[in-house]
Amino acid sequence: ELGPYRHFMQKEIHEQPRAVADTIEALMDNGAFGASLFGEGAEDVLRDVEGVQILACGTSYYAGLTARYWIESIAKIPCSVEIASEYRYREAHANPKNLIVTISQSGETLDTMEALKYAKSLGHAKTLSICNVPESAIPRASRLVYYTRAGAEIGVASTKAFTTQLVALFTLTCTIAKLQGRLDAAQEAGYIDALRQLPGSVQHALNLEPQIVAWSERFAPKQHALFLGRGVHYPIALEGALKLKEISYIHAEAYPAGELKHGPLALVDEAMPVVVIAPNDALLEKVKSNIQEVRARGGEMFVFADADSQFGESEQVNVIRTPRHVGVLSPIVHAIPVQLLAYHAALARGTDVDKPRNLAKSVTVE
Ligand code: F6R
Repeated sequence: ELGPYRHFMQKEIHEQPRAVADTIEALMDNGAFGASLFGEGAEDVLRDVEGVQILACGTSYYAGLTARYWIESIAKIPCSVEIASEYRYREAHANPKNLIVTISQSGETLDTMEALKYAKSLGHAKTLSICNVPESAIPRASRLVYYTRAGAEIGVASTKAFTTQLVALFTLTCTIAKLQGRLDAAQEAGYIDALRQLPGSVQHALNLEPQIVAWSERFAPKQHALFLGRGVHYPIALEGALKLKEISYIHAEAYPAGELKHGPLALVDEAMPVVVIAPNDALLEKVKSNIQEVRARGGEMFVFADADSQFGESEQVNVIRTPRHVGVLSPIVHAIPVQLLAYHAALARGTDVDKPRNLAKSVTVE
């Protein structure tokens, strides 16, 4: 079953070009964004949504945090994202014109299911589930469904589910934008084309594995790590930190790079490696000045940049460049190297990668 791979996690990381391609297959056949991708009656539900409320846990929550940037900048409607276990115990104020989006690989996570029930009890009828397991509890309780087609995910740490959730959320964003008259034909064609090329771009990122293995050997002996990102890549920093702590047991935290000087900079010394997600986007110059602060304090940096980036390497600054910049889809491609870094750091430490201590694949208790 494992083929040439040592662990399911490694296999699942490498399956991502296929998983992404399968998840967008119907869209590619269609050649255009359309409500029919989300099931019967979706046009009526999506055409006049005023905002989006995303509910999820763990890695699925980070997919939601990423999507917020797309929903607000492309569909141009407000979006909030909340951890399901918090939402369900909060006195939330419902706007029934908002769309409730739950994201769950397993479709059985109790907190996400209960958050959905709570939203429905508040009067929300427009509900959509993004899920990887057909006919599981959460999609069955939702009005609309988009199934990611990652295939069975066996490793406890979520990988291919995450990238396919992002693809589904981007498709949702563009579909709402189109139905609401905010996506012109040229933009639509551009996004469809970018998605068509995405499996290839993901494969290019996977090809960075040997360079990441070299980094992971330096990472493995560390006690702590800091992950930094900005904007749409901040959730990728969060995901990188979660992956690392979950399977290698190295304590890792993620911050939006602009927050460094508001506290976490005090932690930085030679013993604290700092991973920076720094693609060529509008915030690159800001990130560069943020990391000067790390450099000045002796911290060693591991930077994931883009091919044509001006990032200079130095004794303290290690740079791996992803082969091309994929614009708005960049967080999907930048998820790959942080998965590989966590995997290889765990491997070097000899932990049980597919079954980390204390964790279950599907969390059906509170
Ligand atoms: C992290 C991880 C968990 C899950 C979370 C939600 O690698 O796997 O954080 O993402 O338990 O699970 P689902 O998506 O099944 O609701």
